[in-house]
Amino acid sequence: MAELIVLTCASGKQCSHLIPLLYDEPKYKLRLVVNSDASSERLQKQYPKAEVVQANLDFPQDCARILEGATVIYYIGPPLTWKETYYGINIVDAAITESQKQGSKFAHFVFSSVLHPELTKLLNHDRKRYVEEHLTESMLPYTILQPSHFTDNAIGQLVAQKDAERPVFRAAHSVQTLFSFTSLHDYAEASAKVIQERSKHFYATYQLVSTMPLKYTEYIKSIGEAMGKEIEIQEMSFDEAVGTFSERMFGSRDGGPQFLRDAIERLVLYYNHRGLYSNPNILEWLIGRTGSSPADVARHYLKQ
Ligand SMILES: NC(=O)c1ccc[n+]([C@@H]2O[C@H](COP(=O)([O-])OP(=O)(O)OC[C@H]3O[C@@H](n4cnc5c(N)ncnc54)[C@H](OP(=O)(O)O)[C@@H]3O)[C@@H](O)[C@H]2O)c1
Repeated sequence: MAELIVLTCASGKQCSHLIPLLYDEPKYKLRLVVNSDASSERLQKQYPKAEVVQANLDFPQDCARILEGATVIYYIGPPLTWKETYYGINIVDAAITESQKQGSKFAHFVFSSVLHPELTKLLNHDRKRYVEEHLTESMLPYTILQPSHFTDNAIGQLVAQKDAERPVFRAAHSVQTLFSFTSLHDYAEASAKVIQERSKHFYATYQLVSTMPLKYTEYIKSIGEAMGKEIEIQEMSFDEAVGTFSERMFGSRDGGPQFLRDAIERLVLYYNHRGLYSNPNILEWLIGRTGSSPADVARHYLKQ
């Protein structure tokens, strides 16, 4: 019988690259977890062989329901919410309960966390630190994956300007800051490998980045080269950047609770002075090839 693989945030960026790598494997049955009606309808149409379930990770009973009969959970937490730690703890507790049921098939908890969860100034990193702690102490067979800033984040808005004479990048923070970038496709390939090889990766924590640290100016230049264009960079003010992030994440520039804006404000402040550094060795060992450059990722989107 096919093993049940549960993926949370199934309508999100990460899963849009991971699901296609698992969907056609006859040994797996996928349970795709979403929150909204719109995402549920979209994924049912897109992946008719998968089971699509709606859940709110805030509710322990929903977490228990999505784990029923599961062999693997690939857990992604919803972004930038002050409840992120609670969601993660709820899901780890549900996995513990599932693993202790008679005849349980539960075998692997994979947590898609973030690079450097020890950075306490970044709330969206700090909140994952407690989930990592709870998972590590749970005695479940686990693997923790730590991606950096996704290479793909800015590419959509730039590729959409491919016919413009001079595309513009509106920078939410200083473009002098350096980041190791993680390509969503590279990350999905590494994640699929961890799910497929399972026990080889038990109790491991992997930093998964595609590039060495690059200045944001180099990142934008590399995308521009793939597009055959010079991209103009315009830096936003702090308030404008927070408003733009808030609108993208929560649909409102200045409305919404301060609880939601806190993480965005800290992120913009942090990225004005410090970036996220790592090394692509672990990713390259997992996927058996060099990590994708920003230009590689841009070329991929340009072909679509
Ligand atoms: N952006 C980056 O550069 C970056 C880098 C490293 C790590 N991360 C981490 O990646 C994670 C987000 O993953 P993503 O980017 O793939 O997702 P995403 O594209 O931001 O999508 C958000 C997802 O969260 C779901 N969701 C929202 N509230 C929920 C709730 N209460 N219960 C259950 N599901 C809920 C949404 O479901 P509906 O569609 O149904 O509403 C949607 O699937 C965050 O933890 C973030 O910190 C991001």
